[in-house]
Amino acid sequence: MEETTPLLSPLRETGELARARGDGTGSVPGSAVRVPGTPGSSHEREPLLDRGSSSPREFHRNEFVDDPEFCEIIRKAERAIEEGIFPERISQGSSGSYFVKDVHGKNIGVYKPKSEEPYGQLNPKWTKWLQKLCCPCCFGRDCLLLNQGYLSEAAASLVDQRLQLNIVPKTRVVYLASETFNYSAIDRVKVKGKRLAMEKVPKVGQRFHRIGLPPKVGSLQVFVEGYKDADYWLRRFEAEPLPESTNQQLQLQFERLVVLDYIIRNTDRGNDNWLIKYDWPADKGGSKDIEWVMVKEPIIKLAAIDNGLAFPIKHPDSWRAYPFYWAWLAQAKVPFSAETRDLVLPRLTDPTFIRHLEDDLYQLFKKDPGFDRGQFHKQLAVMRGQILNLTQALREDRSPLQLVQMPPVVMETKRVPQRDDSQSYTHSLTHTHAHTHTDDSVSYTHSTQSRKPFFSWW
Ligand SMILES: Nc1ncnc2c1ncn2[C@@H]1O[C@H](COP(=O)(O)OP(=O)(O)O)[C@@H](O)[C@H]1O
Ligand SMILES: [Mg+2]
Repeated sequence: MEETTPLLSPLRETGELARARGDGTGSVPGSAVRVPGTPGSSHEREPLLDRGSSSPREFHRNEFVDDPEFCEIIRKAERAIEEGIFPERISQGSSGSYFVKDVHGKNIGVYKPKSEEPYGQLNPKWTKWLQKLCCPCCFGRDCLLLNQGYLSEAAASLVDQRLQLNIVPKTRVVYLASETFNYSAIDRVKVKGKRLAMEKVPKVGQRFHRIGLPPKVGSLQVFVEGYKDADYWLRRFEAEPLPESTNQQLQLQFERLVVLDYIIRNTDRGNDNWLIKYDWPADKGGSKDIEWVMVKEPIIKLAAIDNGLAFPIKHPDSWRAYPFYWAWLAQAKVPFSAETRDLVLPRLTDPTFIRHLEDDLYQLFKKDPGFDRGQFHKQLAVMRGQILNLTQALREDRSPLQLVQMPPVVMETKRVPQRDDSQSYTHSLTHTHAHTHTDDSVSYTHSTQSRKPFFSWW
């Protein structure tokens, strides 16, 4: 029950929830209600995997009934692992990331287990471990929740899908076990014991038949083929400018990247964390009868990968600003196009859309054993603030560069009861910001961050 009452304060958990969810028409707008100081329930810190399930293994089945395409990929990955084609660690990066393969050894996904994230206890890259040990105060990004990168990856994909940006390769939370993953010595010893038992006492061994290396929870992102680091292509395009129409395509894709990154407040968007595919379709018709050559447009496509360091609980405010590196590109100086505005503005200004997005994010984030409702509300407050700035920038035909120069805003919500029973609530604005909106069940409190990052470019 508790898990189905995600964002509501204890004040609203009964009838209003039913109305809010009932027909989806949104009679209770703004289902996100921030109740300052409300501690998370004790359940929230319990591992969800163990809660209320007679069969914990069920949680490890990767079922995506709503998404047959993704289902197909995970089945291929599972089949490959069963046949001994294991995921292969990606050498670069600060954490354990793996190329997941099909039975033919072809890359089909990128898997990032939670326990091998930069600050996870089984991160195979020892430098992060050393950093944690030697310099705990400089450890991690204080605006981010530690070890929830896999959720951030999946949540970025969710935002991308809901806004129909289509630039994030589909990413979802899955469970995988593989010999090539980094396991604790205890887990390895257990498996060794099992193998010995199988060999020596087959009957006993059978009892352990299903006990192998424990599946790890992590994010699986679909592998996209034919893409290269944006850095590579951007340099090429400087030397060999693109045809105008292709350049326009790139600009539109770039704007979608900006929309995504800004909303999720990605803190790790270097130009190595987005990829570009550039294809000149060769005319392979080759028929001797045809004397003319069909001129086809080159295709340019962008993929936003590595979204694990997003959804902060506050705006970066000290020491490091985590800038969006795309802000230095020439594309960032061009005002947002009408196409991008028409794609996202109607959704971002629709309270029902935002409410559903927040609910979907809740369903995703609550899966983490360390889920904390208070922290989640902070993440939402930052995201709403970003959306508020973005909608303003889109309305006023600003450029991505102008967008990142806007003062960061957090937007908390809280229910403010009225004296009468009219279901209308006051709304408070704690800082000057041009944009406010009323809602009949919640009060939005915007606050503009005044503390500038210690190292800031703007
Ligand atoms: N979805 C993907 N499709 C194809 N290649 C990918 C994908 N995701 C990552 N890669 C490749 O793997 C490299 C490392 O992935 P990344 O997500 O950046 O991991 P890390 O967190 O280790 O930086 C990338 O630079 C890119 O070359
Ligand atoms: Mg990376």
